[in-house]
Amino acid sequence: MEIRPAGGAAFKVIAALYGACFEDDWPEPSVAELMNSPGVWGLVAMVDATPAGFVLARVIAREAEILAIGTVPAQRRAGLARALMTRAIAIAAPHADAMFLEVGADNPSARALYLSLDFHEVGLRRDYYRRADGRRVDARILKCEF
Ligand SMILES: CC(C)(COP(=O)(O)OP(=O)(O)OC[C@H]1O[C@@H](n2cnc3c(N)ncnc32)[C@H](O)[C@@H]1OP(=O)(O)O)[C@@H](O)C(=O)NCCC(=O)NCCS
Repeated sequence: MEIRPAGGAAFKVIAALYGACFEDDWPEPSVAELMNSPGVWGLVAMVDATPAGFVLARVIAREAEILAIGTVPAQRRAGLARALMTRAIAIAAPHADAMFLEVGADNPSARALYLSLDFHEVGLRRDYYRRADGRRVDARILKCEF
């Protein structure tokens, strides 16, 4: 496995990975717009020369944020997301005092990953996500101090 910076044309790769990892789609133009926003950058995890995971992050005003992270189903539980998070933290830490992220209350896998990386809960957004079946799900806000 190799982790690469997501370059200028990577919005296509990120949009495809997002569609493979999540229930919903993220249109390429929206991904491109976000990736061209101030302070936003990304990483792609390659397995056998194929994109298999990604993380998008933002660092602005000494605050880092994970915007999205995913591993394609066939490559899960192999350490990709942990490697992506560890690299993202290493990149962000010199430029930020803390990192924040949101995780669905119905997502114990991701929550376990973040807790194992020293994130802790600092807030709750009620009914923040709307799932494909229409369910509303709370978002827990997690923070990791650098
Ligand atoms: C959450 C997700 C990113 C984890 O990716 P992954 O590459 O499989 O994660 P890793 O193999 O690096 O696992 C890291 C840790 O996460 C936790 N974890 C991951 N999958 C888990 C599962 N199915 N059950 C319980 N814990 C899990 C464990 O703590 C694991 O550490 P361990 O393997 O040492 O026990 C992946 O399941 C995914 O893409 N899910 C859909 C998208 C999503 O929910 N993104 C996060 C939104 S906040």
